Amino acid sequence: MTSTEESTGPTEAEKVLIELRVNGVTRELITEPRRTLVDALRHDLRLTGTHVGCEHGVCGSCTVLVDGAPARSCLMFAVQAENHEITTVESLEESDGSLGDLQSCFSRNHGLQCGFCTPGFLMLAEGYLAENPAPTREEVREVVASNYCRCTGYQTIVDSIVECAELRRQGHDGGPGMCGHGSPTTEDTTTEEISR
Ligand code: FES
Ligand code: FES
Repeated sequence: MTSTEESTGPTEAEKVLIELRVNGVTRELITEPRRTLVDALRHDLRLTGTHVGCEHGVCGSCTVLVDGAPARSCLMFAVQAENHEITTVESLEESDGSLGDLQSCFSRNHGLQCGFCTPGFLMLAEGYLAENPAPTREEVREVVASNYCRCTGYQTIVDSIVECAELRRQGHDGGPGMCGHGSPTTEDTTTEEISR
């Protein structure tokens, strides 16, 4: 780093103390005003389940919920997220660390391959299903078009979301054996793989 770069970097005096409410927990951090929400989540709060792809609002891999609605966390500053409820992919797992119902449906329907895009799709789906718990397959196809996946071809992502919606309406939790494709095997995707 040159002396010029050092002189233009943020000083401690330029940083601000903010409170972020993430997954129901209030967290304090000292950050630059220009820090994006996704960087604050990943680097300051160590919630690395939220991924960063394009960093300019196109790919959707950084999707989180802001007050329940899907939002691109690369397009928000962390300071703008104060006084809002932020929900990340880490919230989806069960309290014992097992996969949540939506994650289980993605796993058993093969709704992911490399998994890089998956946290974004999960949060997109979570926010959407809260708004529309009985979507048609065509509606789900339109919703997932907002995020990029370079592996799956999308069909299995749609399958996963449609099935989760059906199971929730039936009152199932989507756990082992509930997604219509048998019980999970040792090859099934783990929470670690899905959310990080
Ligand atoms: S990283 Fe935010 S939309 Fe691509
Ligand atoms: S599973 Fe690889 S980019 Fe979507």
